[in-house]
Formats: sequence, structure tokens, C-alpha cells
Amino acid sequence: MLKASRKQMARARQGTEEYYQFIYLTSEFINHGRLLMKMKIAVLTGGGDCPGLNGAVKWVTKSATDQWLGSKRSMSFEVIGITDGWRGLVDVDPDDPKSLAKYTRPLDEEIVRTWDRYGGTNLGTSRTNPFNPKNDRSEILLDNIKKLGIDVVVAIGGEDTLGAAYSLHKLGIKTVGIPKTIDNDLVGTDYSIGFDTAVNVITEEIDRLRTTAGSHSRIFVVETMGRHAGWLALHGGECSGAYIILIPEHPFNLDEICTLLQERKGREIRYAILVVSEGAKPVGQKEFITSSKIDEFGHVALGGIAKFVADEIEGRTSLETRHLILSHLQRGGTPSAHDRLMARWFGIAAVDMIINEDFGRMASLQRGEITSVPLKECIGKLKLVDTVKYYDKERYNGRRSIIS
Ligand code: F6P
Repeated sequence: MLKASRKQMARARQGTEEYYQFIYLTSEFINHGRLLMKMKIAVLTGGGDCPGLNGAVKWVTKSATDQWLGSKRSMSFEVIGITDGWRGLVDVDPDDPKSLAKYTRPLDEEIVRTWDRYGGTNLGTSRTNPFNPKNDRSEILLDNIKKLGIDVVVAIGGEDTLGAAYSLHKLGIKTVGIPKTIDNDLVGTDYSIGFDTAVNVITEEIDRLRTTAGSHSRIFVVETMGRHAGWLALHGGECSGAYIILIPEHPFNLDEICTLLQERKGREIRYAILVVSEGAKPVGQKEFITSSKIDEFGHVALGGIAKFVADEIEGRTSLETRHLILSHLQRGGTPSAHDRLMARWFGIAAVDMIINEDFGRMASLQRGEITSVPLKECIGKLKLVDTVKYYDKERYNGRRSIIS
């Protein structure tokens, strides 16, 4: 960031960095009638992709470079996108033009114009953790940020990506966070980008499943993502009218589930849909994992619980049962209207936070209002389903009364 006053600039010797800063500021002064500070924003997306990320990048770029807003601000912005999340900032060689082109790209209004319509992330993502205690690359990260002339980093991600953003903030780099995760388990915000689209996918897929389940009089156990939080399963199950919803926050008893299923026998209903979160587990058992591999943030891959539940139900009740794992389909497709709106609001908020110098904070939605919270308060813990408020433990489903 250019900080020197005009007087200081005037004293600067020709040929020095200060001199060129003076020339720059003078031209900005002539162009805009007053002094402008120019900041370089680097925006990145980290962790699992999801619909809405491109919209957030678009709105960071659009509001940072907006001419109309620019004429009212005392600072102007340049925006660059970083390829593949933190990996891009670690692996880039700022002195090598090829590497620069691979890992960074200038963004402007024209480039991002249509981005909000598309899912995934056009910038790419990774689960790279520059602060991994087993492979700490934070010095390289700091060095690259300085060499690239980045003044502020906008990190769009979940608890892992924002945890790295907070570590960077503690090292003196200006950072701003935008909440994103289909799991919706980020503390400090009521909403994280990607969740609504994923709930819509679950609902649509279960709508499809009903016709085949009904035709064959079968039970279907549908596994959702969500890691240790049951929001996706709970909201997906509620929206699709699932008969039973199993979430990590309340370990289940298979006898009770079989009893609930058998209660339906003889009624007109010919089938049942169960939604089970990948992190759900039977009482006294651990979460099911697909491999013991641990990622850079210390996570194992969860999965396999739907097959277990389906086999157990069929074995115990003789009711024909199948299972389905929705897996990464939940992160696919185009963003829902709600995710586009949230991406827009959070993207705009991130630029406002930079202007207000609200660094080390995350844009957040609280009770329908956009605000911001310290990153410190959002990491190291998860927002889990409050089973007293939102879950019926007897029926293994969402609550059917809103009276507490
Ligand atoms: O955190 C988002 C999420 O989709 C989880 O729900 C899921 O457990 C995990 O990421 C899957 O990760 P990956 O894309 O690395 O398989």
C-alpha cells in the first residue's frame, strides 16, 4: 500500500521507489481530484469446491474495481485470483513469468462478468495447509505474498482455509474471510456459501428416488456429506420428507429404527426413505471411514454408514433395502438463487471490510443481516446441530413443534 504523503513524495529523489510512488500518486490525484491509495487484493478459494464460490470471487472483484464506488473512495484496488487456494501462494515463483501465469491471474469486471452462474471454482482449489505442523511452508507463503506485492488476502473457505487465514493474520498480513462450506458448520455465521445448493441437490435426488423406491416397495438409505455436522442430512431430509434422519450429533439405536420402520407395515405407504449423514454412528461406535489417510488439516474421509444401515435393516426386518451415497454430486451443479445472493453479499462485504480496515475478520450472516466477526472466534470449533432445538430423538427426524 502507498502510504507516503504528497510532501514526503515531493522530497523523494528521482529514480527511487518513493519517486515513482510520487509520480503514481500525482497522476491519481490529477485523475480523481484527490489522493488515492492503491491496494492489491489477492482472492483465493480453499477446501472443497461448491456452487457459489465463483459468485463470491466475482463480487469481490466487481465491488473492488467498481468505477462509480471508486470515485467516492479514498483507495482503489487491483484484484488478482490465486490458483488452487493456498497451494498457489506457496508454489508460485514470483520471479518466473510462467509460474506467475500459472498461479495468479488478474481479475476485472469483464473477466468475472458471468462467473456467478457457474458451479465449482474457476480459480481452482486445494486442501493445502501452509501451516501444517508436519510440513510448515508459512515462510515461503509470507515471502511470496511480499514479492507479489499483495496488500490483502481474501480467503474464501471453511474452517480449515479460514484457520490458515487467521494464522496469516497473526503474522501481520491483512486478511479477510468469506464463509463457504456445504456442511454449514462454520461458527460465527448463520450461513456459509454452498449449503443451500447442496440441500437442493439432496431434495431433488430423493424426489427422483421416491418413484423407484415406491415401485419396488423398497427402503432406501441415502448418505449425505457433512462431516461431523448433521445440517445437510437434517435439512435435506426435512425438505425431502424423509421418514428417518440420522445425524452425527445423536448416535442412533438400530432396534429403534427397525421398530419405526415396522410401524409403517400394513399402511398404504409402500416404501421409506432414510437420510443418514456420513458422520452418523450407532450408539457406542465410531464414525465410518473410507480410508485411514489423513489430509493436511488432519481429516479422515468419512463414508460407508449408509451401506451398514441398509444391510442391518434388511438383516433385522427382511424389508428389501438399498443404499445410495450422494457423495460429490452435492457439491456439483449451478448455484441456487440463495447461494448467488449470499455470494454477492459476502463478496461486497469483504471489500467493505478492507476499506474499513476490518482485517482478521470473516464476513458473516447473523439473523438475516450481513456483519463480520473475528476469524479467531470462527476456528477450532464447529457449529453442530442443537438436538434439543432442532431434532426429535424419538422419531429420528426434525422437530415437529417449534415450541421449546
Ligand atoms: O467439507 C466439505 C466436504 O464435502 C465434506 O462434507 C466431505 O466430508 C468432504 O468435504 C469430502 O472431501 P473431498 O472432496 O476431499 O472428498
